Amino acid sequence: MTPNEAKPLGTDPDWWRQAVVYQIYPRSFADNNGDGLGDLNGITSRVSYLVELGVDAVWLSPFYPSELADGGYDVANYRDVDPRLGTLEDFDRLVAALHGRGIRIIVDIVPNHTSDQHEWFQAALAAGPGSPERDRYIFRDGAGPDGNQPPADWVSDFGGPAWEQVPDGQWYMHHFATEQPDLNWANDEVRADFIATLRFWSDRGVDGFRIDVAHMLTKDLTQPLPTQAELDALPIDGHHPIFDRDDVHDIYASWRKVLNSYDPPRTAVAEAWVDSSRIPRYAHPDSLGQAFNFDLLEADFDAAQFRDIIRQNLDLAAQSGSSSTWVLSNHDVVRHATRYGLPHSQRDDQGKLVDRPGWQWLRTGGSDPAVDLDRGLRRARAATMLILALPGSTYLYQGEELGLPEVVEIRADERQDPHFFRTGGKDIGRDGCRVPLPWIAAAPGFGFGGATPHLPQPAWFGNYAVDVQDSDESSTLNLYRQILHVRHSLVSGENLDWIETERYDVLAFARSAQWHVVTNFGDEPYRLPGSSAMRVVASSAPVIDGILPGESTAWLVPM
Ligand code: NOJ
Repeated sequence: MTPNEAKPLGTDPDWWRQAVVYQIYPRSFADNNGDGLGDLNGITSRVSYLVELGVDAVWLSPFYPSELADGGYDVANYRDVDPRLGTLEDFDRLVAALHGRGIRIIVDIVPNHTSDQHEWFQAALAAGPGSPERDRYIFRDGAGPDGNQPPADWVSDFGGPAWEQVPDGQWYMHHFATEQPDLNWANDEVRADFIATLRFWSDRGVDGFRIDVAHMLTKDLTQPLPTQAELDALPIDGHHPIFDRDDVHDIYASWRKVLNSYDPPRTAVAEAWVDSSRIPRYAHPDSLGQAFNFDLLEADFDAAQFRDIIRQNLDLAAQSGSSSTWVLSNHDVVRHATRYGLPHSQRDDQGKLVDRPGWQWLRTGGSDPAVDLDRGLRRARAATMLILALPGSTYLYQGEELGLPEVVEIRADERQDPHFFRTGGKDIGRDGCRVPLPWIAAAPGFGFGGATPHLPQPAWFGNYAVDVQDSDESSTLNLYRQILHVRHSLVSGENLDWIETERYDVLAFARSAQWHVVTNFGDEPYRLPGSSAMRVVASSAPVIDGILPGESTAWLVPM
């Protein structure tokens, strides 16, 4: 098929089970009107690129009106498009363009908090204590004799206090930035409004939803509130005051009814940072239906870690009847081409990470520890080929198909992430994976559109530009294109059978008699077995005379 050919969407309601979903961070994908911010028409103009890449669906991070206190995850209106990114008509055109070429679309729903610019929050401020308007959020009187102390000493996920005082003296809770007040999910109007939002986008043809911090909506804020230390010490067992409460699934059961009323049913995937054992609750068909598995975002490039994570997540998917999800990069983490070029992450005695992978490197401006980008890319290509061969769906993050590393050289006055500001610059934050994509090496702004992208692109970005990689057969972009197309012809059932390799650092498995996969995590080359019966159909590094080089993956099919 040529990239411009029309292609029907397909009628399989289970399309999502093994889909390749490409995450677009709209403000950094392609800028059609040249104002420095990516926009919906920019995405529409690149549909052929997505077709050629071979993805089944795109997921758009928020494109709704927002003051951008948290990159759009502070939503001021859930049923509109940010005027800087386009209009609802532009959105409809984008959906039509994607659907006309066989690509589905997933949008982001941010139900834990709104923007402080949302009309509800403005109304809550105006209406005052005890009002129905305030009841849509989490307002409390302060502690101390004059109420000038926060109701609790809770710390926001982005650093700094999680309670903010308003002029009349009350305080509101914000688990994230101050500009992101948490909604009160005990309020019926809040519940009804999100149903309306799900219907609004479903009616416009959206195929599915990604649910932001899906584990946080319901809360038990009975007074007296616990301290942060008490909160931290409480078990997260379904009854924790703010995390992963069992009663959040009542909400998702009601959403599921709405999503199932469409043909085909709309999908939903939970962003839930919860203990693995609790993931099946979110992935259950009566709840959201699928949940992200983020384990690989925190894993090193290590055979044992990968094997354990794959085993565990396939078991978890079997428990819920859903399919697993595989992710190596997204808009919240250091890109995996950089992570894999760093030494293994530090862990405590229990094996828990002591820091977010790559954040120490970010803090030192990319100097300590030293990063080996060749190795990072080699491993990234191998890991990508491994996860694309696993049963389940794979979420790719824009730019990883170019092998883009994290950008560290962004000045303090150019940074945007609230993490950076709320920690006084101690935590550098997530801007480095959100830098606008390089499309054309020799164009201003590397062809992103306009001369001044909203986050600065380093000079070396040109080496990774799409046009440079287009003409290079061995480029990462062409590898992604090749493997995504080969994958389409190989994916059938959802089985995986491990194959013994006699090397602790080499993983191998069969998806079927037609598709074997071998990843060499070590440095030593590995001789592929059965070379007379199977041939290599794709590999992340050249396989010569049946020898798989270190840090690479091969896919094999029968001769
Ligand atoms: C998770 C999103 O992925 C992240 O980007 C955002 O900052 C938080 N949720 C808050 O909405």
